Order: sequence, then C-alpha cells, then structure tokens
Amino acid sequence: MKAREVGRPVATLPADDDHPYRSGAWQPNLAEWDAHDLDVVEGTIPLDLEGIYLRNTENPVHPSIGMYHPFDGDGMLHQLHLADGKASYRNRFVRTAGFLAEQEAAGPLWTGMLDMPANSLRPDGWGARGRMKDASSTDVVVHNGEALTSFWMCGDLYRHDPLTLESKGTASWVPPEGISAHTKVDERTGEMLVFNYGKQAPYMHYGVVSPAGELVHWTSVPLPGPRLPHDMAFTEHFSILNDFPLFWSPDLLTQDIHLPRYFPDLPSRFGVVSRYGTEVQWFEAEATYALHFTNAFEQGEEIVLDGYAQENPSPRKQEGDDWYRSFYRHIDLQTLKPRLRRWRLNLTTGAVKEEDLSDTLMEFGTINGRYGGQPYRYTYNATGHPGWFLFDGLVKHDLQVGTEKRITFGEGVYGSEAPMAPRIGSTAEDDGYLLTFTTDTVNDCSDALILTAQDLDLVARIRLPQRISSGTHSFWAPTTSP
Ligand SMILES: [Fe+2]
Repeated sequence: MKAREVGRPVATLPADDDHPYRSGAWQPNLAEWDAHDLDVVEGTIPLDLEGIYLRNTENPVHPSIGMYHPFDGDGMLHQLHLADGKASYRNRFVRTAGFLAEQEAAGPLWTGMLDMPANSLRPDGWGARGRMKDASSTDVVVHNGEALTSFWMCGDLYRHDPLTLESKGTASWVPPEGISAHTKVDERTGEMLVFNYGKQAPYMHYGVVSPAGELVHWTSVPLPGPRLPHDMAFTEHFSILNDFPLFWSPDLLTQDIHLPRYFPDLPSRFGVVSRYGTEVQWFEAEATYALHFTNAFEQGEEIVLDGYAQENPSPRKQEGDDWYRSFYRHIDLQTLKPRLRRWRLNLTTGAVKEEDLSDTLMEFGTINGRYGGQPYRYTYNATGHPGWFLFDGLVKHDLQVGTEKRITFGEGVYGSEAPMAPRIGSTAEDDGYLLTFTTDTVNDCSDALILTAQDLDLVARIRLPQRISSGTHSFWAPTTSP
C-alpha cells in the first residue's frame, strides 16, 4: 500500500475525549488520506466489479456547544475505488460553509440537535430547526457524475468529484430552506427526486432534478404542522412522501425547544404524488415511525411500499439511565425494534393494507439500484448492536419466499450500510456484490469487505490505511456501463 496524509484540519477535541459517540467505534478521523494499491489481506478483488463505494460519516473536529449528539459531527466522505482488480482509498471532510467557519474560528459556533438554537454563537444557520450547522454528514449519492452529500435536518447539497473527492461547491437550485437527506436517484431515467421539510407552512416540498442536474419540478406538500420525515420512496410514476406521528412537541416548539414526541393516536400518513404532479393523495396507516424505506413499486391499482416500521418509536427512560443513555435509546435499533413492513396503498379506493414481512430487527436496507421503483425480490439490511448506533451484521431478505441469510462482523467489529453492486454484465437481481467498511475496535483497523450478494460469502478483505469512524449512509456508483 502507498499512502500519504494530504490534509488535517484545526481540531479542538480533547486528547482524552471519552464521549461515547466520539470514542470507540465513533472515534473521529482527523487526517485526510490518499492511498493506492491497498493490501488485500484475504481473497481477491473481482475483475467484474469496477466503481466507487462512498460512505458519509459524522466526524467532529470540535465539541458542539452544549450537548453532543453523534449526528452533529462534520461530514467526512470515505471512498473506495475499485478498478482492474486493484483498490484505492481516499477520505475528505465535506467542506461545508459551517465547517469552514468553525475552522476559521478554531472552535464550535453552533449548538447540536440536543441543545437550544438560541445558545449558538452565530445568529444564522441552516436546517429545518434553524440556527444549526449543516454538516452534510448524513447521506451521499452520485448523480449527474457528482457525489452529492446532504444533511438529515435539511441543508445544502454539496457537490464533489466522485473520483478525487474535490469539493465543487453547492447545487445552485437548492432553496434557502434546504433539501433533506435521502435524495433518490432513479437509475432508469437518471432523474433525482428530492424533498424538504421545515417549520413554516406548507411544511414540506417535493421536487425532481433532471439527469443534467437542473431542478425541473417543485411543488408544495402541505402538512398539518412541522413534521420530521427522514426518507421518501418512488415508483415508476409516483413519489411517496410521509407524515408519521413522531414530531416536535408543538407546545414546546413555542419555547424554541425541539423535542420529538410520539403521538400514537394519530395515524401514519403517506402522500402519493405523480412524478411531475402537484396533487397529493393521502393514505392513512397504523401509527409508527419509519426512518427508511427499501423500495416501492406499482402493482395493478396499488402502490407497494416497503420500509421499516418501528414497534417502539419513542423509547422510555429505563432505570439507571443517565440523560445521554436515555437519549441514545432513540438511535438503538434493538430498542426501536424496526421490522420490514409492506404497505399496500390502493390508488382507486384509498384503502391501505399492511403486514410485517420479517420478525428480524433490521434497518438501513439496500437493493440492486436497477430495481429502484420496480418490482424486486431482495433487500440487504443491517442489524444493530444493542445499545448503540452501530451495525453488527447484515441480513439478506428474500421477499419472494421470506427466507433470510445473516452474517455478523464479529465481536467489536462494526460495518457500514452495504450497497449492492451489480457484477459487470449481470442480469440476475442478486448477481453482484455487497460492499461495507468495517471499524474493528479489537484490532484497531478498518477493512473494506466485498461479499457476494447471493450468499454473503467473503470475496475480498482490503485493509484501509486508518481505522475509520462509524457513520451513516453509503452509495455504490459503477464506473463502467452495465
Ligand atoms: Fe437516513
């Protein structure tokens, strides 16, 4: 392996930092690396796999003002580039306006999500909440030849060269109130579907970005009040927005306190709009909260929508919990208990049918992207390490026969969301590979794993030049034509 450090920002975190989400598997990375000819420590890099695996992470360089939440950290992209049976690695901070301002100030300027906006040092900011730093740390997709990072609380869309990770500024079409994470790329058309949400009526918007990167449709999606949607879904002709009964407590919002509360007596609502439409048809389902959807498709007069319904969207404080532990139960998959659920939305009658497809607690599902918006058979899901926002294994779920195959990464080893990368020339839906980065807290290292999508068998284990922090979403972008 040939590796060199190419950057290192000003950082003010204490050397003996023991914050649970800035240590262990969440220990942030400061150095930016370029590494080539990575060592393959097990197996062989397949020649029928060429492209870029990207993972966005929350990677703080300063403690936030007040209480720190893992989703406050500055965005950092980790990239694995596979070509000709060789692998290279890069990582770069997402150079957001907030990151650059805090570099200049050599310290934090904004509070994180657990603290009051009024305690921020800067009067301005971003996000649905307002006066927050847009860390662009949540999601990443490749669209129109650019790697686009986004933030769960809404913000700018930061553009990067997917090969060099060079910063290319922000997408000019994003409105001042920002865009949410989970921009959706329809591989069949090249369009990208987007939404945002906020505290001002109509509280949500939906839009379509052309294959050339221009906003070509933008419409209001009126909601009863401020809501906290996180993801959306699409079919060939429709987009599906959501209004779940978990949102900032309205009485506390008047005091500038942003405390999510679950209202189990309210329904879950799905808003269906045709891709370039303005009329939203709403459907009501059982109360729950779904952080992510795996896919959706049309079947007769129904829209079939698959996502993870949480059994326990609002975990109670448990005996012995300190304040932090109590809060972190809200990001612990074992506590939230998300299960894969199928909602059937009848466009003619307005009726909804719903059923759980699996008893397994899992989330962060991926599919073969060519099947986005289309009937599909397989999802690849992550399982959660109890008590933490960490992925300890993967589950392949066969929607047709209901079977599952599960692997675990091993004690003290955590993976990243594992996108499916179709093999060059493949035709079968699961003919390809899964990619994941591991954070090995036992051996203090990180690997990139290539697994078969068919059986989750290890194909190659590639050593990275540094142990990387855990984080959130990932994306696979092939560099060859299918
Ligand atoms: Fe997400």
